Amino acid sequence: MAFGYSPSNVYQNAAFWRTLLELHCIFTLVYTAFSSPPEDPIKCVLGNMNCTLTSTYGAFPDRSTCRAANVAYPTTEAELVSIVAEATKAGRRMRVTTRYSHSIPKLGCTDGKDGLFISTKFLNHTVRANAKAMTLTVESGVTFRQLIAEAAKVGLALPYAPYWWGLTVGGMMGTGAHGSSLWGKGSTVHDYVTEIRMISPGSMNDGFVKVKSFKRDYNS
Ligand SMILES: Cc1cc2nc3c(=O)[nH]c(=O)nc-3n(C[C@H](O)[C@H](O)[C@H](O)COP(=O)(O)OP(=O)(O)OC[C@H]3O[C@@H](n4cnc5c(N)ncnc54)[C@H](O)[C@@H]3O)c2cc1C
Ligand SMILES: *[C@@H]1O[C@H](CO)[C@@H](O)[C@H](O)[C@H]1NC(C)=O
Ligand SMILES: *[C@@H]1O[C@H](CO)[C@@H](O)[C@H](O)[C@H]1NC(C)=O
Repeated sequence: MAFGYSPSNVYQNAAFWRTLLELHCIFTLVYTAFSSPPEDPIKCVLGNMNCTLTSTYGAFPDRSTCRAANVAYPTTEAELVSIVAEATKAGRRMRVTTRYSHSIPKLGCTDGKDGLFISTKFLNHTVRANAKAMTLTVESGVTFRQLIAEAAKVGLALPYAPYWWGLTVGGMMGTGAHGSSLWGKGSTVHDYVTEIRMISPGSMNDGFVKVKSFKRDYNS
């Protein structure tokens, strides 16, 4: 008899309840982990004004919350280009934020209350999969989970992996995220990137926005 009720044995009885409690805790953890992805880390008043950003854990280590005047959710590269141009022209500070904001440091904060968050939440499309060249072209808000699934569709797999599925391609590249393998080039995600298309603020002559492509030359 492992956990039966026995009035003559107080210790055994206590152990029974402790075991039940522990089982319940384990169940709760598993339940939370598998059933609900974290909420959007950005919260705003009236849709997209007076926004706050927290980390995926609901708070940054110093318990502060970052603020911005508003948030933009571009859905295409063209929209992103015009958002960056407009904000640059207005002299505003901007920061890229992601679907779950997994960094523990306050990397996504702008200056005080007047900045702009540009979220990559809806820049989550796979542009192209090329099985022959073994490449995937994705928008920067694609999550690690999506990346693995898209690669599998064309029979490819990643030889490297940071730990968490909710990281985005842009976030991983921004912080040099890595796994722990020494196989091949090692396990830093950006070492497997062959080309980047980058949108950044520009001068008046550029129309306040620049779109640049960089290609890695593996032969040099
Ligand atoms: C549970 C957990 C496990 C983790 N495991 C690992 C691990 O195994 N290995 C590891 O190396 N790291 C790990 N990390 C850290 C994680 O890889 C980094 O914090 C990563 O940057 C988070 O990515 P994100 O997409 O949430 O980006 P965010 O945290 O939202 O952003 C990170 C930075 O990138 C910038 N950024 C994001 N997208 C773009 C873009 N499109 N263009 C320009 N800038 C952009 C943001 O402005 C910000 O400065 C882990 C984190 C967690 C919470
Ligand atoms: C937004 O914030 C500003 C300054 O903090 C405040 O004056 C204004 O009332 C807020 N707007 C809304 C709609 O909450
Ligand atoms: C992109 O994210 C949005 C918001 O969560 C979701 O509705 C949509 O299905 C996603 N698109 C793709 C291609 O995964």
